[in-house]
Amino acid sequence: MEQLHVDCRAMPRTALMLSLRLVKLSLSLAVAIGVAGCASPLPAPAQGEVAVPAAPGRWLGSGSCAAMGCHNANGFQGEPRSEYNTWVSHDPHARSYEVLFNDRSRTITANLDPKKPAHENAVCLNCHVHRDYAKEQANHHARFAKQDGVGCESCHGPARDWVGDHYKSGWSAKTAEQKLKLGMQDTRSLAGRVRSCTPCHVGAQGMDVNHDLIRGPSASGI
Ligand code: HEC
Ligand code: HEC
Ligand code: HEC
Repeated sequence: MEQLHVDCRAMPRTALMLSLRLVKLSLSLAVAIGVAGCASPLPAPAQGEVAVPAAPGRWLGSGSCAAMGCHNANGFQGEPRSEYNTWVSHDPHARSYEVLFNDRSRTITANLDPKKPAHENAVCLNCHVHRDYAKEQANHHARFAKQDGVGCESCHGPARDWVGDHYKSGWSAKTAEQKLKLGMQDTRSLAGRVRSCTPCHVGAQGMDVNHDLIRGPSASGI
């Protein structure tokens, strides 16, 4: 997991993008290699690796969906079971952390809070990684990577309490409410999709693209 501690600010932009992609790839490979089928999406840490906490955080990271037998079948864009490769290759959400290093982000930062780079600013991370990112930091599993940006769990809900069951027989008999209690967001109904997308695309409490972000905080404090 050493690669996660690259000092991004010191790197040219292309090298940075590449290293973020490598981190993404290595995370998914690390998980995929350790997975037998989908039965245990979170392999035990290899010797010398950082131990996974006894009560791991509920946000597992997109890498935990990336086994070939699960959602990374490498089929066509949008094909069932190819959600991971579809997301990595075609979905702008997979780049939503990277854009926090681009020129537009630098401009926003210069006006808003020059001391806090966008990729460390909770205001940005709440929408460019997942809802309540800042509040939920203690609930991130050791393998969770903010570098993945808006990942599977950002829309489908934190996976710890359902990842081990959602492919087993009996799961589909559960109601949307029962699944939601375990953390899985309903993406089948229109109402569920509205709940999933609008906090970031329209706004919600504490998630607001207001004039501070557009122009920087007003000198008069208004
Ligand atoms: C309320 C949620 C929200 C907040 C807060 C937010 N963003 Fe965004 N941001 C979005 C969404 C949604 C888009 C995509 C908009 C679109 O393309 O229609 C976006 C797009 C962007 C883009 C353009 C992406 C590109 O492809 O070039 C940049 C840059 C950006 N945001 C930077 C920031 C920075 C920096 C912050 C923090 C200061 C921030 N955003 C805070 C939701 C948010
Ligand atoms: C930006 C939000 C978003 C992200 C990110 C996202 N999904 Fe989805 N996903 C949806 C929505 C909305 C649907 C329902 C619409 C559809 O089926 O096309 C869906 C459908 C699915 C389905 C079918 C579910 C069903 O009810 O049959 C699977 C499986 C899935 N996603 C897995 C993933 C995986 C794995 C990832 C990460 C690699 C991911 N998704 C990332 C929003 C998202
Ligand atoms: C956690 C916050 C978050 C959630 C949840 C989310 N998005 Fe996004 N979305 C973003 C951000 C941030 C971007 C900008 C990514 C970029 O440009 O790099 C974005 C980009 C997009 C884009 C591309 C816009 C463009 O200009 O190209 C579409 C389309 C989109 N989102 C639709 C959806 C839909 C539909 C859902 C729900 C199923 C959803 N999003 C859920 C944060 C979110």
